[in-house]
Amino acid sequence: MGHSAAVWDYRAAIEIAKDWNGIDQVVLRSPHGPSAKVSLYGGQITSWRNEKGEELLFTSSKAIFKPPKAIRGGISTCFPQFGNCGSPEQHGFARNKLWIIDDNPPPVPPNDSDGKTCVDLLLKPSEEDLKCWPYSFEYRLRVMLAADGGLTLISRVRNINGKPFNFSFAYHTYLLVSDISEVRIEGLETLDYLDNLRQRERFTEQGDAVTIESEMDRVYLRSPNVIAVLDHERKRTFVLRKEGLSDVVVWNPWEKRSKSMVDFGDEEYKQMLCVDAAAVEKPITLKPGEEWTGRLQLLVVPSSFCSEQFEL
Ligand code: BG6
Repeated sequence: MGHSAAVWDYRAAIEIAKDWNGIDQVVLRSPHGPSAKVSLYGGQITSWRNEKGEELLFTSSKAIFKPPKAIRGGISTCFPQFGNCGSPEQHGFARNKLWIIDDNPPPVPPNDSDGKTCVDLLLKPSEEDLKCWPYSFEYRLRVMLAADGGLTLISRVRNINGKPFNFSFAYHTYLLVSDISEVRIEGLETLDYLDNLRQRERFTEQGDAVTIESEMDRVYLRSPNVIAVLDHERKRTFVLRKEGLSDVVVWNPWEKRSKSMVDFGDEEYKQMLCVDAAAVEKPITLKPGEEWTGRLQLLVVPSSFCSEQFEL
């Protein structure tokens, strides 16, 4: 069977290990050194390393790796809502659930499979989830690591039955940076944003690039699909490419807020920046049988690459 053979190929390059809480995590390795770890807890990316073995994602030294709290760091998926929207579970329940490995994943298109290792995870609602969000869905998350170290996440949410539903979404992505005051984000200039620190009031970005000098919590609206995060000190640039996700959330808790989070070190805000590809302003609607796909591709390149190459 062609389909099963393809699945076997990708699985051959992955390994499953237990973390210190006994929760399975999938390790993806690319032949030239890059690697990634995906925990079944939350379907969360807990590590992404380059060919030199250097970590590229921030995880707090105080992160708690077990339910009911989401892991502070890496990349988690906020679904079925971003923020709390009146629900007790901030950023949705998907990041607090145990996912399973999908043994019947959708085929990998040929242009997506070259030199990539891949794992497919699946989340279906439990009885408990249905009590707080009464919709039948299947959420499939594919994580792919390319030979050049590029990391791709593809989320597919399907309404499998019953009534239409709406959801908002984000890939909550904690980038590891050398010094927050040396970082700039390109691709958000001139955009409107909602400022979560000012009751979601709408403003227009005036700067040439976004820099962070105090607490920031903004939803940039209808952004271009490529965003660059330049880390001057390390001379490297994170390139984020998104599809199906119109917004970008930028968050850094800065000094005061950091001290109020139990799973975050007082000084750790200096080494992290969340830049989340998201769908917040306009929720996604799925009728029965419909499926939505949201994709994020992350790549790290030397900062000497000029931004024109990314078609910002
Ligand atoms: C950001 C939000 O993306 O995540 C912030 O914009 C929020 O408002 C932050 O505080 C962290 O959320 P949490 O639930 O992971 O502590």
